[in-house]
Amino acid sequence: MDRNLAMEVVRVTEMAAIASARLMGRGSKNESDQAAVDAMRRAFDALHVNGTVVIGEGERDEAPMLYIGEEVGRRHAEDPGVDIALDPLEGTNLCAYGRPGGISVVAMADKGKLLNAPDTYMEKIAVGERARGAIDLRRTPTENLRAIAERMKVYVADLTVIILERERHVDLIKEVRSAGARIRLIEDGDVAGAIATCFENTGVDVLMGTGGAPEGVIAAAAVRSVGGDMQGRLVPRNADEVARASNVPADLIRQAAAKGAQVILPSELFQGPYFCVSQEEHWFGHAYEWREHPCVTQLAPVAKDLGVAIPVSIFERDGPQYYNSL
Ligand code: FBP
Repeated sequence: MDRNLAMEVVRVTEMAAIASARLMGRGSKNESDQAAVDAMRRAFDALHVNGTVVIGEGERDEAPMLYIGEEVGRRHAEDPGVDIALDPLEGTNLCAYGRPGGISVVAMADKGKLLNAPDTYMEKIAVGERARGAIDLRRTPTENLRAIAERMKVYVADLTVIILERERHVDLIKEVRSAGARIRLIEDGDVAGAIATCFENTGVDVLMGTGGAPEGVIAAAAVRSVGGDMQGRLVPRNADEVARASNVPADLIRQAAAKGAQVILPSELFQGPYFCVSQEEHWFGHAYEWREHPCVTQLAPVAKDLGVAIPVSIFERDGPQYYNSL
């Protein structure tokens, strides 16, 4: 990116941060967020870009400003076309309750270079440059910690892992502790947590755990730009989020159909991680009668519209029976 443009973007985040800082500690996350959104939206008008928001405040009908698909920037003919992922106030509660760590973030890339992540959860792992190439989300946290320690030439006990303090992380926290690493628990703000792994003076070496998927894309852009490493995979929590996750392959399916494809196989894992490793009660809530499966209801109209076949793997419930079906 052009260096001056990068400085201009800093001003956009600065305006949002200053606006929300005026409301710090006043107990209203909506007010703090709104102040940041308004200020960021205004600041974008002066930015020399032809931008499209791909990660923003929500779908067009949910957010009046900085919604997904909104065109922002000065938009002159000579301004570069960019996709933008933004969060005017990341850590709304942190700001509302006067805690440290709330930030304002904008990531920009050439068109089509940022994942249009749905508003679901994402499992994440991030490290700084010293551990680049040592992480793999398919491995257990213990295996990752050993690989990271080996790459950094330290002991696992020397590592500090930053994790969002959430009920869903109870097992992760237990495992990290029994692997011997130290933990910094945070109330909110896993974008700042991921970035912290890239700077030695933060005392943080690894980010692990599940948080927002849009925040994951912004964090990945930041980590990459300072030489770190990050992996993420979508973890939809319910039917609505599985349907949202289906929008990602739907866009790719349209592109493939436009190039003449007739049978299009989406990656099996676009609905989330493959969970049939051990039989656990809670996963059965992810099975649906095939006609009602969110992937089927979401992708069947796309197949009909494009006149293509889309074989989709689903976890099917048929009365008391469960199947992995296609
Ligand atoms: P907000 O600023 O939207 O409140 O997000 C804060 C945050 O902590 C993110 O950093 C994180 O990814 C997400 O919330 C985690 O979601 P949840 O609070 O549902 O666990």
